[in-house]
Amino acid sequence: MSDPVRDPDPCACTRRSVLIRGTLTIGAAALGCAGRGESAKEVPSEGGAVVLPLAEHPALANAGGSEVIRADGKGKPILVRNDGDAGITALSLKCTHMGCAVRVDEGGALACPCHGSRYAADGSVTKGPAKEPLTRLPATLGGDAITVQIG
Ligand code: FES
Repeated sequence: MSDPVRDPDPCACTRRSVLIRGTLTIGAAALGCAGRGESAKEVPSEGGAVVLPLAEHPALANAGGSEVIRADGKGKPILVRNDGDAGITALSLKCTHMGCAVRVDEGGALACPCHGSRYAADGSVTKGPAKEPLTRLPATLGGDAITVQIG
């Protein structure tokens, strides 16, 4: 067995750490990992949707712009991206492996700190252990605001 002290581990939610802790359940470990290091912008929701006025979210006004939000400050963050002619993309950043919060690096890469899964910009899996893509949320640009359906 490898040495858990020396192994690089950006998140203490690996299977190894779960085994070491012994008494933790996998679910509790995943919850403990959620949101670590995230800098999502908290936005209010109403009626199962969040509305993002472009005046308040200028990064989303132009093609290629993106922002990470968290509805009502709860749950996993959501990546919202303006893909220009392709429309608006909204991806839940809840890793489909065990539910940790997937991080977005400066280059736009999507990586889970818990067990190393990686996702492409469209949410598809590029590296496991995750097998399923990130969940796409319906999102539209209308007038001067983006609406994302979250529930
Ligand atoms: Fe395991 Fe994301 S929770 S790779």
